[in-house]
Formats: sequence, structure tokens, C-alpha cells
Amino acid sequence: TVVAVVLAGGTGSRLYPASRSDRPKQFLSLLGEASFLERTVARARTVAEAVIVLTRESYAEGVAERVPDAEVLVEPAGRDTGPALLYATHQVAKRYDDAVALVLPSDHLIGDGGGDEGFAPAVRRSVGVAAATDRLVTFGVEPTRPETGYGYIEAAEPVADAAAGGPATDPVADGADAVGGDPSIGPVAADVEWYPVASFHEKPTTETAESYVEAGHYWNAGLFAWRPEVFLAAADTPPLAPLLDALRTGDDAAVRAAFESAEPVSVDYAVLESAANVAVVPAAFPWDDIGSWDALDRVLDTDTDGNAVTEGATVRALDAADNVVAADDAHVSLVGVDDLAVVARDDRVLVVPKNRAQDVKRVVRRLEDRG
Ligand code: GDD
Ligand code: MG
Repeated sequence: TVVAVVLAGGTGSRLYPASRSDRPKQFLSLLGEASFLERTVARARTVAEAVIVLTRESYAEGVAERVPDAEVLVEPAGRDTGPALLYATHQVAKRYDDAVALVLPSDHLIGDGGGDEGFAPAVRRSVGVAAATDRLVTFGVEPTRPETGYGYIEAAEPVADAAAGGPATDPVADGADAVGGDPSIGPVAADVEWYPVASFHEKPTTETAESYVEAGHYWNAGLFAWRPEVFLAAADTPPLAPLLDALRTGDDAAVRAAFESAEPVSVDYAVLESAANVAVVPAAFPWDDIGSWDALDRVLDTDTDGNAVTEGATVRALDAADNVVAADDAHVSLVGVDDLAVVARDDRVLVVPKNRAQDVKRVVRRLEDRG
């Protein structure tokens, strides 16, 4: 059984002021009619037998309004994707005997790709590897720039003689790093391309990211496939082990207390960077995490000066190039400025150089601290 777990509990604070505390990124429809969340759930239904939308308490109502037919699972406390996925994976383990959990972020633009390059075939390949090995399977996207907002994946040599058509044997299944170490796990279809992961590095500095792109590392697409027992074994170390202990007691109050006292940590830092049993399946479908305002010029049409403008806004530019303008029904005049993001939503305005767009998160945190 493929059980999709749609991650819908983040704030997307780098997209402030479009995103606000009661209107996180996954509820937005930056480019089209349907929100990121609705499109993700529709996509999940094409590849999974069951779909669970995982979110925090404060967004549960907003999720249910947008995807009324989906099951909503509320995590005990919002502590980023590490604790959230531990909770959801533990649920999947309890409810299904023989499941592969397919984790889908709800904040991505994903295109069709077409043929073998499409989303569904890539998911089938990854689910196949997750089912047949003791590995946490990531989707590897070929980088086009030294993005610092992503995780990077270094692939190792392909496993065994899959290329020669023989059954792929996985060294993790009988090696020292075994998780569960069940050698009876079946072979991966011989024609599926996948690699063991030599190292995983979340959100590097620009310089490190440049060296990774040069070295041919993949971007982590943020989608994952794993058998619940494989993930739970990999998570049974700090920082998630205390939460897993609480989940195993089955005592709701203990679970809530453990989650509330946990530090926020993403699954990338908490599990993937340290796990020895990670695999990567190359993915070629069109993919973009519109994570910050500088990303919009990748997906919007630009004028002859390279200014990208969202629908509804009108821009007059004089000696102004390569800016991003996002504003509802507003006239925006730009004079003598380059490489800025200018955003106006409701009664809020944000101006930031595109190369500082990742830092918007920090100003939002300050706004929140002041209430
Ligand atoms: N349920 C729940 N609870 N979901 C959450 C939480 C939480 O506390 N925090 C974040 N999410 C959801 C977000 O809504 C989003 O759909 C997804 O989890 C990923 O979180 P982001 O905060 O957007 O992560 P990121 O973009 O910085 O980094 C991740 O994705 C990149 C690709 O988009 C990492 O996996 C990177 O390695 C990866 O490259
Ligand atoms: Mg993201």
C-alpha cells in the first residue's frame, strides 16, 4: 500500500507578506487557480492508495476547507518536519501492515514531465526501491544553480549488478549498517536507476553549494519514500529518539508533552544527514520550490529588461532591470534599481535585494516576536 503523507504544516515565512501566520505558503495560489495544497493532494491521489494531510493544529481548519475529502492528521505540536514525520510514520506503521510512506511537500510546483520522465513513473521507481531495500529513498533533481535553500545529495557507486540485468543486492541489507538487516527483502527491478547515498548535506553555504554543483551532486527534492520500520529505526537516535519512546508508550499525554518540549528540527537534519541507509532515485520531472521571492523570475514571464511581474500588477520601469514585482492590482514604478524583489500584499510592503531573499524569514521572526 502506498500511503501519501502530504506535509502541510510549514509557514513559508520567506514568502512574507503573501504568506502570513494564518495563510501559510501551501494555502497560496501564487501562479494558478488552485492552491499549492490542492494541487499536491490531487497529484498524491494519482500515485497513492491513501492520502493523509499532515499539519499543525492552527492550520487544520484551513486544510479541511481546501481539501475537504482528504484525511487530516494533526501533529501533537508544530516542531518542523522531523517530529511531524516521525508522528505520521508511526501512525502509518500502526495502521498498515505492508506500507510504503510517500512524503510529499505541499509547497512545490511540479510539472508533468511526460513519459518516463513524469512524476508518477519517478514515484513508482522510488516506491519500488523503498519496498525492496532497507533504505530511505530520496528524489534527486539535477541542480541548475548553487541554491542555498536546498539539501544536496552525493550519490555513491550504483549497487551490485542491476545494470547487467541481475537482481540488485543491497549492501545495507547484509552489511554493518543494516537497519533491520532483513536479507530476504526482494530485489529492485533491474532497470531502475538508483544509488546509495554517500552523503547528504542540508542547506549549505553558497561556496559549499558551488562545489557540490561542480561535483555533480543532486538537489534533494524534499519528496521521500520509506517503509515505516526503516524510517523509525533510522530516527531512533537523537534528536528524535525521546519522541519515538513517547510514541511507543501509546500514552497521548506523554506524546504531547514530548513533542511540546522538543526543539524544532527538519527531517533533513534530524535523520537524513546522519542515516547510513539513504538512497537516491534521479528525478527529471519539472520541479521548483518557490521558496523565496527571488524564485519568481524562474517561473514568470519577464519583460525585455528582465523584470518579472505577477498577474494583476502593472510596472513602469525606468533604468530598472531584473526585478521581481508581486503586487495585487497595483501600479509599481521602479527607477534606477536592479535585482530587487518588491512585494505588496494587503497592507504590507516588502523590498529586498534578490540575493537576500532567504533572509526574509528573519524579519518575519522579528515581527512575530513583537506580536
Ligand atoms: N506537518 C508539518 N509540520 N509540515 C511542515 C512543518 C511542520 O512543522 N514544517 C514544514 N512543513 C512542510 C512545509 O509546509 C513544506 O510543505 C514541507 O514541509 C517542507 O518544509 P520547508 O520548510 O518548505 O522545507 P525547505 O524547503 O526549507 O527544505 C526542504 O525541501 C527542499 C526542497 O524543497 C528540505 O527537504 C530540503 O532538503 C529540500 O531541498
Ligand atoms: Mg520548501
